Amino acid sequence: MKSICIFASGTGTNAGNMIRHFQYSPLAKVVLVVCNNEKAGVVTIARGLSVKTVIVNNDELVNEGILTGMMKNHGIDFIVLAGFLRKIPGDFIRAYNGKIINIHPALLPKFGGKGMYGLKVHEAVLAAGEKETGISIHYVTEQYDEGKIIFQAKCAVEKDDTPQTLEKKVHELEYRYFPVETEKIIAAYES
Ligand code: GRF
Repeated sequence: MKSICIFASGTGTNAGNMIRHFQYSPLAKVVLVVCNNEKAGVVTIARGLSVKTVIVNNDELVNEGILTGMMKNHGIDFIVLAGFLRKIPGDFIRAYNGKIINIHPALLPKFGGKGMYGLKVHEAVLAAGEKETGISIHYVTEQYDEGKIIFQAKCAVEKDDTPQTLEKKVHELEYRYFPVETEKIIAAYES
């Protein structure tokens, strides 16, 4: 049984969905949630689902070795970023190379990079006049949103869409695909 740690900063709907999915998986379980904001919704969701949840401060996020040590102490095999808004230390990314995945709410390589999160992404998609948007699941590297893309799913951008309606459509794709695609990635390591 593999152990997953989720990093999240916000509402935590994807984290909750991922935790529930893996409660029924013979392959892996979410055993730890890391959050940088004790008031974030994800903290309530994860604790409500009985997953150990750790709040990290700025020092822990910038000092190499601390997060990596925390993962080793909890026996973590895979890391899932689900709306984590802080930069991850380089040593951590190197230690878990190929085992850290992120979900981005647009079709990378477009609309990614620093500052592209939340409604800003959907606003940019609308401003660019895109006909479609979607989700990208990708490996995490030291550059924001630039790691190899593993999976994408698309939805249409309609004339009357707003950033809020796009966010809803994209969330629906995330809920449908993120847990199952994560499980496939873990299974591929196992085979
Ligand atoms: C999601 O849209 C995800 O793509 C992005 O952050 C958002 C997190 O939403 N990386 P939630 O906190 O899971 O509701």
